[in-house]
Amino acid sequence: MCGIVAYKGKKVCFPILLNGLKKLEYRGYDSAGVACLMNNKIHITKRAGKVKELENAINNKQSSKNCGGLGIAHTRWATHGEPNQKNAHPHVDASKKITLVHNGIIENYDPIKKFLKSKKIKFKSDTDTEVLVQLIGYFYKDGKLDFEKSVRAALQRVDGAYAIVVLNADFPDMMIAARKGSPLVLGLKDNEFFIGSDVSPIIKHTQQITYLNDSEMAVINGDGYEIKSVDKDVSLPKKVEKIDYKIDDFDKGKFQYFMHKEIHEQVDTILNTLKGRSTKSSVLLHGLSEYWEEINVAEKIYITACGTSWHAGLIGKNLIERFAEVPVHVEYASEFRYNHSIMDNKTVVIAISQSGETADTLAAIAKANDFGAITIGICNVPGSSVSRETKCGIHTRCGHEIGVASTKAFTAQISVLYLLALKLADSKKKITSHVLKKHLNMSGYEKSAVGLNPYGTKAIKSLLRKEKSINKMAQKYKNASDFLYLGRGLNFPIALEGALKLKEISYIHAEGYPAAEMKHGPIALVDKNMPNVFIVPKDKTYDKIISNIEEIKSRKGKIIIITDSKDKILRDLADDLILIPKTNQYLFVILATIALQLFSYFIAVAKGCDVDQPRNLAKSVTVE
Ligand code: G6P
Repeated sequence: MCGIVAYKGKKVCFPILLNGLKKLEYRGYDSAGVACLMNNKIHITKRAGKVKELENAINNKQSSKNCGGLGIAHTRWATHGEPNQKNAHPHVDASKKITLVHNGIIENYDPIKKFLKSKKIKFKSDTDTEVLVQLIGYFYKDGKLDFEKSVRAALQRVDGAYAIVVLNADFPDMMIAARKGSPLVLGLKDNEFFIGSDVSPIIKHTQQITYLNDSEMAVINGDGYEIKSVDKDVSLPKKVEKIDYKIDDFDKGKFQYFMHKEIHEQVDTILNTLKGRSTKSSVLLHGLSEYWEEINVAEKIYITACGTSWHAGLIGKNLIERFAEVPVHVEYASEFRYNHSIMDNKTVVIAISQSGETADTLAAIAKANDFGAITIGICNVPGSSVSRETKCGIHTRCGHEIGVASTKAFTAQISVLYLLALKLADSKKKITSHVLKKHLNMSGYEKSAVGLNPYGTKAIKSLLRKEKSINKMAQKYKNASDFLYLGRGLNFPIALEGALKLKEISYIHAEGYPAAEMKHGPIALVDKNMPNVFIVPKDKTYDKIISNIEEIKSRKGKIIIITDSKDKILRDLADDLILIPKTNQYLFVILATIALQLFSYFIAVAKGCDVDQPRNLAKSVTVE
């Protein structure tokens, strides 16, 4: 699971590669490396740590200025082998002529490694990737096969997933890329070629893009290129698309961390996502119109996703079942892809993904497509694999999310699911036009430009203005070693999400639970040191949650309450309380989420953690 960028052209390659790696660091950041071809030799620079370390190393090398116009680069998230310099990519074969970067996992690396060792080939790293480059080298050695055939022969023998770019010192005008399971994009511009794990390192240079499909290779030779099959030596037709969005340069503005900036951006990102998608009396989801008839009569809905996006799926289930009365199953994509789910062309499968590149989510989509299900993508990155591989979809319009812990994408996903639930309910006549209008024009806090008032920006702004007091609270709890997050109904997923945010960025153990279910186990953990975060809307669950709070209180647990109620009883029960603006139960979910995002953020900062790039995590998990 890693980021790949490669360049072939007349320009000096290192600046292009390093800039590209910075854009791809969201895919992994435990080591980075580049290789270029100079004077018919491969030159490699690698460093453990982030791309910045690699950049410093390169800037200190005089020779980097003359690195020529053919190079490959990689930022890694370790799968096989520790995240150190030895295991960083690019890797080379025994002859040191062939070098390669790889994203994915070679599952049968062990038997291949044994075979190569029996041929006296020595390995320098602990990675699965080195096995692949050594295998290419084995086929190429002594002119057994030519360069292209060697790559093909090796790829035909590996199981698992790969996106690779390969250079060969004997072919200074050639670069070969191939993919199966992991994404790869080719950018074209006159006599220049750019390759990336996604378009982000390419888009600055060209908008002419070709997406490689599984089992395809791009063979770039001189000023030309050909797309071929990995399985046999045949050319394939290829569509070059013009993509017309731009990726802004990343800028933290006045914020210390992107995560903090992204939490604040929710004032706009929710509105952007909703804009144009409703009138005062109807929901408009143009991205689904081609398939709406089928979606409307679907007998069953699956929602599949990973991480934070899976939590959004749980909210989606609640809303769709509540309004549209269609049964919804929410499954982790990593489970769904192997489960015996019963699907046909009357099944809708909604895949939710911020990045659009999560490997398990993509595999779940592929499975659903194979069954003939109607696949819907809810995704933040236009042109991403999820966007392209689902039959229809709705983009969340958050802009680039850089902080590894997802924030603004989550609230936008919830907003989209809310609209979808209402649209389904309306089509199926499960809600009256009067009720629909009420949802679309709820006067919870303010009238928004799009008519969907629950997402009143004023309420979010007013909560964000309280962040100093949330920060103060965070200082008090930063040394706790375990947290429980508890909520009911729509707020149970928010408890899960609050706990996940804390774990991800502050490395404090936290668990989310349905508030009443806590009695069946987690309560055993409660003592005077344990903070328990209760999410308490003033709704029909209110009295029940108060009982749950009492249960923890009587065991001396610390009580933190997130609520929109000013009731004295809550103040008496709470050790600390975050009062969020009074709106309605749907906006409450968003506001409680934002409060919890801020709470985790300030704890992580207080603990001196690397908030935007927490240890061991990656923004996009592109391996199974
Ligand atoms: C990783 C990220 C999470 C994200 C999850 C799913 O684990 O660190 O923040 O929620 O992947 O990613 P996706 O891009 O599919 O929403």
